[in-house]
Amino acid sequence: MVFASPLVTQCRIVVLLVLCLRGAPSPAPSAGCPERCVCDEQLVVQCSGQRLSSFPTNLPLVTRQLILSNNHIDELPALQLNYLSDLVYLDCSNNSIRDISESTFGNLRKLVYLDLSYNMFLKIEDQAFGPLSSLVMLRLTDNPLLSEIHPTAFAENVALQVLDLSRNNLTTLNVTSLITLPALRSLGFSGNPWNCVCEIEDLCLWMQIDTFRFQDEGQTVCEGPPGLQDLRLAELGLHLRMQCHPSFGHQDYLFFAAIGFVIFAAGTVLAWLTGVVMVLFERYVKREDGQLDLEKEGVKEEGGR
Ligand SMILES: *[C@@H]1O[C@H](CO)[C@@H](O)[C@H](O)[C@H]1NC(C)=O
Ligand SMILES: *[C@@H]1O[C@H](CO)[C@@H](O)[C@H](O)[C@H]1NC(C)=O
Ligand SMILES: *[C@@H]1O[C@H](CO)[C@@H](O)[C@H](O)[C@H]1NC(C)=O
Repeated sequence: MVFASPLVTQCRIVVLLVLCLRGAPSPAPSAGCPERCVCDEQLVVQCSGQRLSSFPTNLPLVTRQLILSNNHIDELPALQLNYLSDLVYLDCSNNSIRDISESTFGNLRKLVYLDLSYNMFLKIEDQAFGPLSSLVMLRLTDNPLLSEIHPTAFAENVALQVLDLSRNNLTTLNVTSLITLPALRSLGFSGNPWNCVCEIEDLCLWMQIDTFRFQDEGQTVCEGPPGLQDLRLAELGLHLRMQCHPSFGHQDYLFFAAIGFVIFAAGTVLAWLTGVVMVLFERYVKREDGQLDLEKEGVKEEGGR
């Protein structure tokens, strides 16, 4: 028995290892599946086109993919949504959602894909997508009422690669924080009624940079002001730069005149000082020479005697 015990221990370890290698059994969807939806073993819940008027209840907590497209859902309830902390893919396109706030997606740190196209958004608030640190693709197209996006709405989405804002009602967009997103490479701005004034100068200049892909760049055009209608944003960067930073005004000329005078005066004083120093130096050198000559003469005179 004493000799057998190491063997028994080894057997146990082997059994444990085998169990471990087979992997922990993947968590099965909890028993429930929402009415009118189909839940499968890949943790996908499919509720598309089921005339749902509200967010489904009884969702499996382990859901990875949730497809709610083509319904009449008018609200994304933060509480229910944030139970789904494993959610990777969320399609809410073609519903009647009106707004989202910082708490809507508060807990969805694994979410990679989010589709909110074809909804009823009026505006996107600050930090609305803030907690979505893994988000790679955000589709927010075809919201005919959407006319305002907060300057820092996407500022925290450091993984974002694709952002599609096509066919909304945007006349302006502050891109200051978008430009600095490290992973961003593809953008859609077409089909919006852009108002090509100084406010979108940065957007227009950005569209000239080759390293980004702007989808349907040819359809990304101004709706106003008169005179710039139907011009492509990507062609207007330099025009706006020149128009919005006009060349020197009166005050600038005065300033340059003053600076010029100061430089002139300083130059004159410096030249005068240099002259004085040189004259003094010359005199000093002459005096030294004179003394030397006198001394030499003195030596000669003594030697002559
Ligand atoms: C939106 O959903 C409705 C059904 O709710 C459908 O008839 C319509 O074709 C869908 N629209 C788009 C653009 O997918
Ligand atoms: C789009 O926004 C403008 C104001 O920027 C507003 O006057 C217009 O009614 C909006 N369009 C729609 C379809 O809501
Ligand atoms: C854009 O927003 C930033 C703050 O995020 C602000 O400092 C800047 O002035 C805005 N730019 C324009 C053109 O409004």
